[in-house]
Amino acid sequence: MSSATTQGGLESMLGFNPTDPGFRQDPYPHYRRLRENTPVFRSPAGFWVLARHRECDRVLRDERFGYPAPTAAPGNAAPDGDGPDGNGAAGNGAPGDGPALPGGFADQRHMLIFMNPPDHTRMRRVLRDTFGPRVMRNATGYIENRIERLLDGALADGPRFDLISSVAHQLPFGVICHLLGVPEPDHPMIEKWAQDYLSGVSPSFTVSQANHQARDEALAGLNDYFRRLATERRQSPGEDVLTRLTAEVDEGHISEQELLGTCILLFIAGHGTTTNLIGNGTLALLRNPDQLARFRAEPDLAATAVEELLRYDSPSHLSIRVAFEDVALDEENVVRAGEQVIVMRGAANRDPDVFTDPDTLDLGRVDNRHLSFASGIHVCFGAPLARTQGRIALGAIFRRAPRLTLAAERLEYKPSLLSRALVELPVSADG
Ligand code: HEM
Repeated sequence: MSSATTQGGLESMLGFNPTDPGFRQDPYPHYRRLRENTPVFRSPAGFWVLARHRECDRVLRDERFGYPAPTAAPGNAAPDGDGPDGNGAAGNGAPGDGPALPGGFADQRHMLIFMNPPDHTRMRRVLRDTFGPRVMRNATGYIENRIERLLDGALADGPRFDLISSVAHQLPFGVICHLLGVPEPDHPMIEKWAQDYLSGVSPSFTVSQANHQARDEALAGLNDYFRRLATERRQSPGEDVLTRLTAEVDEGHISEQELLGTCILLFIAGHGTTTNLIGNGTLALLRNPDQLARFRAEPDLAATAVEELLRYDSPSHLSIRVAFEDVALDEENVVRAGEQVIVMRGAANRDPDVFTDPDTLDLGRVDNRHLSFASGIHVCFGAPLARTQGRIALGAIFRRAPRLTLAAERLEYKPSLLSRALVELPVSADG
């Protein structure tokens, strides 16, 4: 999408206008109009925008759709010049395009999220073996301990604090660094790369050239960093995921580039989205006191509560797929081979055909088929870890700060169409 795209142009291109002043505060009325008026929208720019649960879920599960391949038909404008996932993973164009990068540099072709079968099947199996039950048990202990330490710090600083910077970001960032085996002294450096990287993966009309450059430099920094760390782990192995991945390379199951791509993907995908779950989840509870009262009174609700918070204000709002062959969505709408499809999960999660009273937060909601972790073969690999973090973090926040209130009238969101990310969440522990 060209940076010169006008507001009216955007509306006619996407079927909704993400630059509307009210959109960032509350995108859901915009999504409702899209769902009601043009649920299957063919953009004049040659891509599709899907807003209903049924088509979104179907495209995500249908293996005739996948990640944009180098053979995608020319002339189909990509809705987003950046990473197609909504999770912060991105690179330099479509996977597989251009010559291989020199020097063992991992680009998005080497990240699970951008792979299609059979490579995807192989990499996913390797990752499943790498994240065995021991890793998950270790992660749970670490999460329980770290959330208490973070809350100790936030509450000691005074009754008023920013929940995003002091807790919601620090927890998943620490967890993924711990699992990968990133030593604490390296955290500030790697955190800066993550920020630079993420600032460059929003849709191109919101991202400057400087953002793009920072993103590419961050990717290069992360690549070199994980390569050095992998060399260290080969010399002195640890219990971490990186050590296990080096063994997978040495046994010939994955390439060195795939190891680097996996580390970068796990690092990036593993924390920003979880920050949004904790931030958006806390906000939703604070704005719905009846549900917060249930959350406190009924600990057994923890599992359905996290699912509902994921549905109600999803951490990530869209995925992109390309059709590998012509696919009829219905009698009228045929997606042609090579055309891209934007799957609007933020809209699908509020579809009244699937969710009763979709705009109501109901922590006891059952049969909650939200698409916040996507569906099909690319369904979020880290979903169990994310759910565990959400459950433990939200439980601890409201236990340690039982009179927590919102300490700002108006909240700001990051200018991203992909993720739903609060800039800050000022709260007061004093009520
Ligand atoms: C609440 C937190 C999270 C949310 C909402 C989330 C959401 C998603 C979504 C929607 C996808 C599919 C994207 C697409 O296909 O377009 C995905 C994939 C993925 N996520 Fe997550 N994620 C979360 C946390 C995590 C964590 C903690 C990790 C790391 C441990 C992680 C690792 C991955 C990976 C590796 C994939 C690629 C899976 C594949 O392509 O097979 N995610 N995530």
